[in-house]
Amino acid sequence: MNSSLYAARRARVSAQLGAGGIAIIPTAPERQRNRDSDFLFRFDSYFHYLSGFAEPNAWLVIAADGRTTLFCQPKDLEREIWDGIRLGPDAAPQALGVDAAFSVSELDQRLPRLLENTSTVWYPFATHSALEGRVDGWLNAVRARVRYGVLCPDAQRDLCAIVDEMRLVKDAYEQDVMRRAAEISARAHIRAMQRCAAMLRAGEDVREYHLDAELLHEFRQHGSQYPAYGSIVAGGANACVLHYRADDAPIRDGDIVLIDAGCELDGYASDITRSFPANGRFTGPQRALYELVLASQEAAIAATRPGARFTDPHEAAVKVLTQGMFDLKLLDRDQHGTLEDAIHHRHYFAHYMHRTGHWLGMDVHDCGSYVEPSEMGQVSERKDPLSGETIRDRPSRILRAGMALTIEPGLYVRPSDGIPKAFWNIGIRIEDDAIVTDTGCELISRAVPVKADEIEALMRG
Ligand code: GLY
Ligand code: MN
Ligand code: MN
Repeated sequence: MNSSLYAARRARVSAQLGAGGIAIIPTAPERQRNRDSDFLFRFDSYFHYLSGFAEPNAWLVIAADGRTTLFCQPKDLEREIWDGIRLGPDAAPQALGVDAAFSVSELDQRLPRLLENTSTVWYPFATHSALEGRVDGWLNAVRARVRYGVLCPDAQRDLCAIVDEMRLVKDAYEQDVMRRAAEISARAHIRAMQRCAAMLRAGEDVREYHLDAELLHEFRQHGSQYPAYGSIVAGGANACVLHYRADDAPIRDGDIVLIDAGCELDGYASDITRSFPANGRFTGPQRALYELVLASQEAAIAATRPGARFTDPHEAAVKVLTQGMFDLKLLDRDQHGTLEDAIHHRHYFAHYMHRTGHWLGMDVHDCGSYVEPSEMGQVSERKDPLSGETIRDRPSRILRAGMALTIEPGLYVRPSDGIPKAFWNIGIRIEDDAIVTDTGCELISRAVPVKADEIEALMRG
């Protein structure tokens, strides 16, 4: 592990805490799945971003003077026989570059001492249930000693405000891990597509879980720890259910299959969607919708560059999709008016109801404000045409080199009067992962083809 990378991040946090500031960052709790089995442990992203430490039961404390303290599980031969080797407080300073380390069993005793004579306590707000209560307890312990002349912090602030901004722009190390994660996921998509067509050709009963198994195989085969989120493998009409999960539905010759799946590698997510014909050949209507979504993605990709707003790719995609909906008779001129009307009144929402992307990083829907911080105060109000709610728009984030985001337009056609039957129950989404560069963006997930002809060629193989 490159401990200097994490030390440099901690130093950047420390420099932003203000005089007398101190930050407390716990890792994620272990969670019971059932009886005596826990869910697989996954560290907290903030904690890992600042420590590089993957064990449970750990806390990091960063002070404004730059001093960092880790609380971690003590060495314990019996526990280590059952659960695995622990780093332990003695080895932690050397391994992780922290200034001091103690057993987590000493947390409640030592933390009030660390908080004495500080002014502001920073911790991630609304991220860890019960953390606020722990902080209250430590502050109470400090207060109990004011009669000895110690000062008690009188302010609490959200540490996410600092670390979210840091995590939003990925450094070279992070970009490298994200490229490798996306490459593994791309291979997994290829494997699932090819296996799907091969099984159908062999007359086998193909289920969504068969393709899920292919994805998992490829993820683990290349060192990914786990999927970055629950894989979506949706055959036929299931593709129109946005949060569908790989289940046991049969995949039929003639269906479109939508797979939205990405692995997590060393703490970083990838997030890829491909929609492909189960048998390897698009029908006319499937191809028409597919080409439209792809054209909208191309427009969104062209709008993803430094200086553009986060919303620009979405607006570019919506324009192409909405025009295409008119062309394919999914929208009707008499009923929905002009292209501008249909966009303004969000008539396209019937078939495209999500955003075109999100930040991507340690969390699949990564942290980071979608509002441009320097323009936070510029508010314009409008009525949402669908819900009637008042929406306060603030200027969208200006994209900068190193930001990572997904570009994922889609079209989902549910059976409905007035919609050509040939398109019913077709759901298409195409999702790639992009890193903003100095001149545009780098698509890091394109090791899996996206052109209809290339998908067909791949599935013949
Ligand atoms: N897989 C979740 C998403 O695409 O946002
Ligand atoms: Mn996705
Ligand atoms: Mn996504």
